[in-house]
Amino acid sequence: MAARMQAAAADIHAHRILILDFGAQYTQLIARRVREIGVYCEIMPWDASDAAVRDFGARGIILSGGPESVTDASPPRAPDAVFALEVPVLGICYGMQTMAAQLGGRVASSAHREFGYAKVRRTASSRLLDGIADEGAADSAVLDVWMSHGDRVEALPPGFVAIAATANAPLAAMANEGARYYGVQFHPEVTHTRSGTAILERFVREICGCDALWDAGNIVADAVSRIREQVGADNVLLALSGGVDSSVVAALLHRAIGRQLVCVFVDHGLLRLGEGDQVMETFAKHLGIRVIRVDAAERFFAALGDEADPETKRKIIGRLFIEVFEDESRKLEGVRWLAQGTIYPDVIESAGAKTGKAHVIKSHHNVGGLPERMHLSLLEPLRELFKDEVRRIGLELGLPRDMVFRHPFPGPGLSVRILGRVSHEAADLLRRADAIFIEELRAHDLYDRVAQAMAVFLPVRSVAVMGDGRRYDWVIALRAVETVDFMTAHWARLPYEFLDHVARRIVNEVKGVSRVVYDISGKPPATIEWE
Ligand code: XMP
Repeated sequence: MAARMQAAAADIHAHRILILDFGAQYTQLIARRVREIGVYCEIMPWDASDAAVRDFGARGIILSGGPESVTDASPPRAPDAVFALEVPVLGICYGMQTMAAQLGGRVASSAHREFGYAKVRRTASSRLLDGIADEGAADSAVLDVWMSHGDRVEALPPGFVAIAATANAPLAAMANEGARYYGVQFHPEVTHTRSGTAILERFVREICGCDALWDAGNIVADAVSRIREQVGADNVLLALSGGVDSSVVAALLHRAIGRQLVCVFVDHGLLRLGEGDQVMETFAKHLGIRVIRVDAAERFFAALGDEADPETKRKIIGRLFIEVFEDESRKLEGVRWLAQGTIYPDVIESAGAKTGKAHVIKSHHNVGGLPERMHLSLLEPLRELFKDEVRRIGLELGLPRDMVFRHPFPGPGLSVRILGRVSHEAADLLRRADAIFIEELRAHDLYDRVAQAMAVFLPVRSVAVMGDGRRYDWVIALRAVETVDFMTAHWARLPYEFLDHVARRIVNEVKGVSRVVYDISGKPPATIEWE
């Protein structure tokens, strides 16, 4: 059994695809699709060195889309190694255009931008598209696809034939079967392209010959053997927050090294209702993980004092969190490692930040700088994984579904959902209002349909008539958003009856609240949190 696990674990990265990123918003989506198909892949920037491309050892390469134009003076180009390695290459959108230009074809800017749904018709046989048809389509040679481009290929490079066309682009897809080079002007990675996954699967599995080695069970087995090898007999420390990433790290490390893992769970008193007990119940009681709970609520409230500025509140909490965590860990012996729930999008973002290409800057890390200060080595067992993969292995490791699919919750907790000064009274009211909202979302099967939902405490007294008297009580705002990446978001169109029911319950059950409002701001301009 152990030998078999070892063998499976050793192999899961063996068949791999390299994705070169030309800056499209969809690049991570290509990687996620390839992983869903069961094949390991990594993203590198388009200007990766020839050596990096060669050393990666890909069975195939995908060139992503991008915002630039091949017709500019010095457009981004694929490294020469891509076309020297003799592995299959698939160019998507910009990737197809640069492939055409680099191999001797011609690309022209087109006055007519094509953006949105389009129909492509197969015009010649190819390994990439033969036999691929949209389910239930009247004409099996026509595929529904998603287009988003300005330029287009006007003359094919030598050795290529056109394999599909749209009304606007006679060269919507091209192939050089001998070299196993393919280009598609449309985006197979987005779900609007109905047979997109089938096309990517055809490329990755059949044309590149990759086996589907990358699945939750194999990922866990591989991670377990790598962790064991890395840490040996040392102890590992983890700051457990109860969020998805740190929970999965805890479960994974526990599977790998059992009692060598020690978790410190800092309860800063700004968690949701019953959350502290829940974390202990799941990890300490059910999974048998060593968890030290530190009840530090009073220290956090004292440190926050009358502070009302959001960024200062964040800093106070961040600093104190580190202090409390350090105090606790000093009491432990034999700890050499600090585990962190860094995931692949964080890695891509910080790599991008180094080359100045990142659009996002993460500032939400609670334990930033800790490993150096504490002289611990960093252990990041989720570094290769996308969020959906983290969730899948969480389930594989036996974590409860509710925990694995819970909405994100900010590190500074309710302090950024209590506008201005953080009082015990506000925290208590907010916790109860929030619990009612979340409980009702779950009861009405709405929880999984929104990406994040919360109650917010507004330090505003509004008038209400309750019983016989006028009362001036607090206002609670409810917020629920739909989003995939949390960078942009729409407010969730929750049913009026549902909102009515939740608002009534909050006013009836949470004494001190007289009014409930629903936030209908999008992001941008508003953010998801109120502070
Ligand atoms: P915003 O409010 O910036 O939120 O639209 C985007 C996502 O980030 C979360 N968020 C935080 N997470 N510490 C965190 O760990 C923070 O200080 C913080 N501020 C916002 C927010 O909940 C949402 O998921």
